[in-house]
Amino acid sequence: MNILLIGSGGREHALAWKLAQSPLCTTLFACPGNPGIAAHAELVDLTIEDHAAAVAFCEERRIGLVVIGPEAPLVDGLADSLRSAGVPVFGPGKAAAQLEGSKAFTKELCERHNIPTAGFVRVTSEAQGLAALDAFAIPVVIKADGLAAGKGVTVAMSRAEADEAVREIFSGRFGAAGAEAVIEEFMEGEEVSFFAITDGHTVVPFGSAQDHKRVGDGDVGPNTGGMGAYSPARVLTPLLEGETLERIIAPTVRGLADEGTPYSGVLFAGLMLTNQGVKLIEYNCRFGDPECQVLMLRYQGDLAELLLATAENRLATLPPPRFSDDAALTVVIAASGYPGAPAQGGEIGALAKAEAEGAKVFHAGTAMDGGRLVSKGGRVLNVTASGQSVGAAQKIAYHAINKIDFNDGFFRHDIGWREVEREAKE
Ligand code: AMP
Ligand code: GLY
Repeated sequence: MNILLIGSGGREHALAWKLAQSPLCTTLFACPGNPGIAAHAELVDLTIEDHAAAVAFCEERRIGLVVIGPEAPLVDGLADSLRSAGVPVFGPGKAAAQLEGSKAFTKELCERHNIPTAGFVRVTSEAQGLAALDAFAIPVVIKADGLAAGKGVTVAMSRAEADEAVREIFSGRFGAAGAEAVIEEFMEGEEVSFFAITDGHTVVPFGSAQDHKRVGDGDVGPNTGGMGAYSPARVLTPLLEGETLERIIAPTVRGLADEGTPYSGVLFAGLMLTNQGVKLIEYNCRFGDPECQVLMLRYQGDLAELLLATAENRLATLPPPRFSDDAALTVVIAASGYPGAPAQGGEIGALAKAEAEGAKVFHAGTAMDGGRLVSKGGRVLNVTASGQSVGAAQKIAYHAINKIDFNDGFFRHDIGWREVEREAKE
């Protein structure tokens, strides 16, 4: 079977690496891909917003499965266009991708199906937003409704900051994403990412991870797309995972199916472990980046088989996904200036030396410039390792990083710290 993978980041490199290992995979194509993905796939240059061109490519190359990595083409309905042409797709259609594309859609779904999440109100103007804040304690959370590349959320520590966040959203800064906002009660607790794969009926757990969103050591500085992750997140105990599946994931999948917008693909739940139980922070309609990188290192099955069975509504025919008992950890090397204005074009070398330390280096924002590998983007490399504990994986990842030549790069030195601290107490 020929497979087409859409995307260009570290998440897609990890997916490509795993898909290419499948005996089901004849040729893997990637659009647009990156130099790391090029080791496993033939890169193709399609304008993915042009759905007719994507369909034509799939017909011409007899693509038997399309895997859509990022949220934007999902929210844009690429999966619907491909499915209408008879191409099996891993990833939800436009209606179900609203789980990520609209915060209000998700909050209202939670309300209808009694799914535990922070209390909220939906507002459509600055005046309504400012007035609504009166009913919330501080801290309070203000979110632009639509996709805002991770920049539409403010956890306001004062009323003045909350007012400012509301004004900013309705100032047009987030474009269409800011035509509406959601104001939410602040939840206190530890955050965990949980993944489940579903074809709209059957749901299978696909592992947990913990991300590190702030740019600096000790969780300080601005929010990023994620500076590193590890899996599994043992704070999500089997008991809490069961609670998550029963009270959050299952009613979501059932609710969407009953309402005529069945969800097919991976459900990425951002969870808060509060002292009133597990609550949903938000859903994403794709794998996390860099969470996917650690999941792929631990996943022991045939990824193409799993994603195809999901796309073809026959997930129930497969055994549940199996994961290694080992932990995996990934450290993001970002270009200096990230998340603001990352330096571009810095030369990267010695990745083979890093891999000789036992790590797997996934490319996130890299490009070839002549014969040189250079940075192109904010998050550049994901140095990923596994080990018997998070601490052991962390050691290998940081040893490997020290071998890499990338003068323009920086990374956090404490990825996995919560778990490493817990392990030290055992
Ligand atoms: P989101 O894009 O919805 O995941 O929000 C980004 C980040 O803001 C989350 O990872 C949380 O750290 C934080 N956050 C969002 N909503 C809440 C909430 N209701 N209570 C506390 N923190 C939140
Ligand atoms: N690492 C968080 C995300 O992919 O949204």
